[in-house]
Amino acid sequence: MSAFHILVVDDEEAMRESLAAWLQKAGHEVTMAAGGDGALEVLGQQPCDLALVDVKMPGMDGHELLRRIKEDHPRVMVVMITAYGSIESAVEAMKQGANDYLLKPFDPEHLMLLIEKLVKQKEVMDEYHVMQARLAEWDTGGFEDLLGRSLPMREVFKQIEEVAQTDTPVLISGETGTGKELVARAVHSRSLRTYGPFIAVNCGAIPEHLLESELFGHERGAFTGAVKTRLGRLEMANQGTLFLDEVGEIGLAMQVNLLRALEEKRFLRLGGQREVESDFRLICATHRNLDLLMEEGRIRSDFYYRINVITIRVPPLRERRDDVPLLAHHFLHQFAREMGRRVDGIAPEALRLLQDYAWPGNVRELKNVIERAVVVNRSGTVEGDDLTFLRAGETARSGAGSLEEVEAGHIRKTLETCGWNISRAARILGIHRGTLTRRMKKYGLDKGS
Ligand SMILES: Nc1ncnc2c1ncn2[C@@H]1O[C@H](COP(=O)(O)OP(=O)(O)OP(=O)(O)O)[C@@H](O)[C@H]1O
Ligand SMILES: [Mg+2]
Repeated sequence: MSAFHILVVDDEEAMRESLAAWLQKAGHEVTMAAGGDGALEVLGQQPCDLALVDVKMPGMDGHELLRRIKEDHPRVMVVMITAYGSIESAVEAMKQGANDYLLKPFDPEHLMLLIEKLVKQKEVMDEYHVMQARLAEWDTGGFEDLLGRSLPMREVFKQIEEVAQTDTPVLISGETGTGKELVARAVHSRSLRTYGPFIAVNCGAIPEHLLESELFGHERGAFTGAVKTRLGRLEMANQGTLFLDEVGEIGLAMQVNLLRALEEKRFLRLGGQREVESDFRLICATHRNLDLLMEEGRIRSDFYYRINVITIRVPPLRERRDDVPLLAHHFLHQFAREMGRRVDGIAPEALRLLQDYAWPGNVRELKNVIERAVVVNRSGTVEGDDLTFLRAGETARSGAGSLEEVEAGHIRKTLETCGWNISRAARILGIHRGTLTRRMKKYGLDKGS
């Protein structure tokens, strides 16, 4: 049986002392208070499992204290102690939420049995709370906005949970659009650094010569145009997490600089004389095969081993097709709400198409396909016709009609939806305006046709 931390509240010192002695003998930890105010002060400072509360006390009486405990510390159990003659007040207390009562005078054995019963109750309640939390997680099908119920994704969730508790660097690998950034954010939000910043740098999107000042910051006058001192991302990430996205794109020279900064947790701003310190957890992501890049000499091995302590591989969507319906419905509701449209289901045939497709662009592509479907849909339920796959050849289905017919039909539908606004239609279709006008010409599509 586990031990309780018990708060004994009684104005009579002799009573407090003897209760405490019995409870301590049974292995429980005891704190004493002579009245309601003292009791609330204790509860505000340390967690207790149970409060034994005398009903009759000067000042704040037991009923009032019970009410306050239930309000401010609902997880604390309360047992009322009352004189034999006033059992009504004990019953009243039970109605107000007390877990039980003891009649004075009582024998120690009765007290111990009662406590044993409450300890068991609490164990059950704790288990129940853990289960509730698990259920809540299961309901959303994953971690906050990182959804998934498939086995491979559950493995990812498990890894996130494990690495979040450590402070070691994490490398997240996976194809484009698999959710690497969401995984990085999930690690951060479950780590001890959750109240610190999450600073993301897309190393692939920043030209090499700008990346250095982006990462390390610069002093005023460090170079032409550096009119003000600017903090770099490494410094901004202090106490939090630094997320280096597309880490495989970092050049060799910059790898040397970064490695030094990562090892020493100190570095110079560009043009700086004095080293600055920053304490952050490093998470990197890449859609590339870093082993290969290392073999090709494009990633230094010392840099590679520094960032690649623990790897989380995010599986491509085609390896977790079980997640497709969950994700598709999630995005459907999201876009329908955003666009204020009533589309609330996916027809079985359409769902099958979604599940059969190879998803080279992974979850991001699925999201785009659903967005377009919501735009073009008329019936309120997504049909096969509403779906356009960028690489239709990769669906397992051999559809009715040629690919060109399907494409022409889809372009027409989109244009109609957009009132023949070409720029908008191009955006929804995910192609350039020029491409769209060429296709329109090819299929002979115009407003009057
Ligand atoms: N498991 C998921 N649940 C919900 N949304 C997801 C999931 N995975 C990805 N997404 C969504 O898909 C899009 C792409 O995700 P994200 O940017 O994290 O992918 P990525 O792997 O970093 O892609 P890239 O390699 O192109 O940078 C985002 O809009 C994200 O919200
Ligand atoms: Mg990304």
